Amino acid sequence: MNTPWWKEAVVYQIYPRSFMDSNGDGIGDLKGITGKLDYLKELGVDVIWMSPIYQSPNDDNGYDISDYQAVMEEFGTMEDLEELLKEAHGRGLKIVMDLVVNHTSDEHRWFVESRKDKTGPYGDYYIWRDGKPDGSAPNNWGSCFGGPAWEYDQERGQYYLHLFSKKQPDLNWDNPKVRKEVFDMMTWWCEKGIDGFRMDVISMISKTAEMPDGKIKGGFYGDYSPYCIHGPHVHDYLKEMNENVLSHYDLMTVGETPGVTPKEACRYAGEDSHELNMVFQFTHVDVPGRFGKWNDKKMPLPALKKILSTWQTELSGKAWNSLFWDNHDQPRAVSRFGDDRPRYRVLSAKMLATCLHMMQGTPYIYQGEELGMTNYPFAGPADFKDIESINAYREWCASGHVSHEEFWPCITAVSRDNARTPIQWDDSEQAGFTTGTPWIPVNPNYKEINAKAALADPDSVFHHYQKLIALRKRYPVIVHGDYQLLLEDSGDLFVYTRSFQEEKLLVVCNFTDKEVAFQVPEEFKDARCLIANYGSHEQKDGGSKKKESGKLRPYEAFVLRQAR
Ligand code: GLC
Ligand code: CA
Repeated sequence: MNTPWWKEAVVYQIYPRSFMDSNGDGIGDLKGITGKLDYLKELGVDVIWMSPIYQSPNDDNGYDISDYQAVMEEFGTMEDLEELLKEAHGRGLKIVMDLVVNHTSDEHRWFVESRKDKTGPYGDYYIWRDGKPDGSAPNNWGSCFGGPAWEYDQERGQYYLHLFSKKQPDLNWDNPKVRKEVFDMMTWWCEKGIDGFRMDVISMISKTAEMPDGKIKGGFYGDYSPYCIHGPHVHDYLKEMNENVLSHYDLMTVGETPGVTPKEACRYAGEDSHELNMVFQFTHVDVPGRFGKWNDKKMPLPALKKILSTWQTELSGKAWNSLFWDNHDQPRAVSRFGDDRPRYRVLSAKMLATCLHMMQGTPYIYQGEELGMTNYPFAGPADFKDIESINAYREWCASGHVSHEEFWPCITAVSRDNARTPIQWDDSEQAGFTTGTPWIPVNPNYKEINAKAALADPDSVFHHYQKLIALRKRYPVIVHGDYQLLLEDSGDLFVYTRSFQEEKLLVVCNFTDKEVAFQVPEEFKDARCLIANYGSHEQKDGGSKKKESGKLRPYEAFVLRQAR
C-alpha cells in the first residue's frame, strides 16, 4: 500500500503568540517554539502547523498580513524562522505554514496602492464596488466580526468588501495577477523548505459576480454565504494552485473550509481532485443559537455522533478527514465536550482524546489540549483581547439587544480567547510562559495544570496523548480501518469499531459523569486492551474483565483490539 505521509501523521497546532516567550516581552515567539521542539518530539507528533507568523498590524493576531515574505517583528526574524525549520527538520518534525490569502491587511502594499488608484496596476486586486445611489453600502452583508462587510474608502471613493474585519480586505481572486502573486509567494516559501500549508477560509476565495442582499439570520446583517462560500470558481482556482505550486513539492495541505459538506469535501480533497489533501469541516463545532454562534448549549451526544460518523463513512475511500476538537478559534475541548471540573478533567480529556484519535483521518492537537487546559474564567468584557469577542459584545449587549446576564454565559462559552491564553509550562510565575507580563493573562489554574507536572506524572493527559500517537504508528487499523458506529441512539456512550484486514478495534467512550451499563460484544471477548483512562484495565485480559463488570465508570474510555 502506498500511503502518503500526511495520512499517517499527527499534527500539533501552535498559536505562536501564546506558545512560549523567549525574550520577556510577554509575546510568544519563534525562538520560544524552537526551544520547545524536544517537548513536541517527546509527545510524538510529526507535524507542526503554525498560525501566521508574517508581518502584520495584528488587528486579528496575524490573520491580517501586511507582508507575506517577512516575519512579524514581535515573533523574531527570518533567521529565527530558518533556524526553527532547521531544528525541526533535524528532529524529523515538519512545519506547515498558515496561508491567509482570502484577504490581506489593509496595510499590505497591494491595498495601499489599490485604494489610491482605480486604474493603476493594483486597482483590481480587491473587491471594490460603488455604493447605492443614496450612498449606502452595495448590499446588506455583515462581516464575520460584526458590523457591515463593506467599508467606504474616501481615497478611492468606493466601498471594498471585507468578510472579516475592515482591516482585512478580501482579495479579488478573479484577477489572474492576484493568483499569480499568491502562487509565486507560495513557491517562495516552498523553496525555503516548508512542508505544507493550512489554508485560511479557502472556501471563501471565489465570490459570485452578482452580489444581492443576503437573508438576515442570527444577527443584524445579511448572510453572504450563498455568494461567497464554495463560490463559482473556487475549485478552478485550487486546481490552478495545485498545478502551479502544490504538485511540485511533497506537501501536506489542509483547507479551512467553513460551510463544507461531505460531498463538497470530496471535491476539495478527493483522491483524484488535484486540489487539497484534506479539509477542516465545522459541523461538529457549530451549534448556532439565538445569538448566532454565541451559545453555551452543548450539542446532544447522538447529534455529535451522527455528524462525526457521517464524515467517517462519507469520505471513506474518497477523501481524507482531518480530526479535531478545538483550535485557536474554538473553546477548549475539555470544557466544551468533556468536563473541566477538577474531579473529571483528566478522565474526560483522555476520553475525548481516545474518541478522536481512534478515528480515520489526520488528528490535530491544539496547543495545551495535551495538558487538558481549560476555558478561561473571564470576569467581564474588559478581559477580551479578541476582535471577534470585543465586537460581538458591543453589537449584541452593549447596544442593548440582549442583557449582559443572558449573553455573558454564551460569549464566555465560545470566545476564541479561551484557546489563546498562554501555555502553562510550569507552576512558576506566569506559568513559565514569560518572564515579563503576558499579552493575555495566564489561566489561574496553572499551578495544577502545567506541562512540568504532566511530564512528571505517568497518568497525565500528556502521556495519554503520547500513547495514542504511538498506537497510531503501530497499528495500521487506526489509519486504514473501516469505521462503524454502534449504539447510535445512546445519549451517553460513543462506541465504534474499526476494521482492517485481520484486525478489529472496539472504541468505547462514556461521555457522562454517571455509571452507564455496557456489555462488550462477544467478538471482543478475547481482545486485548490497548489503552484505557482508568489505569487497571490496560492488561491482557482487559476485554474479558470489562465484559464481566457490565458497567462503565464516569468518562471511562478504552480500546480493545481483536486480531483474527
Ligand atoms: C480563519 C482563522 C481565524 C481568522 C479568520 C480570518 O477562520 O482561523 O482565526 O480570524 O480566518 O482570517
Ligand atoms: Ca517574545
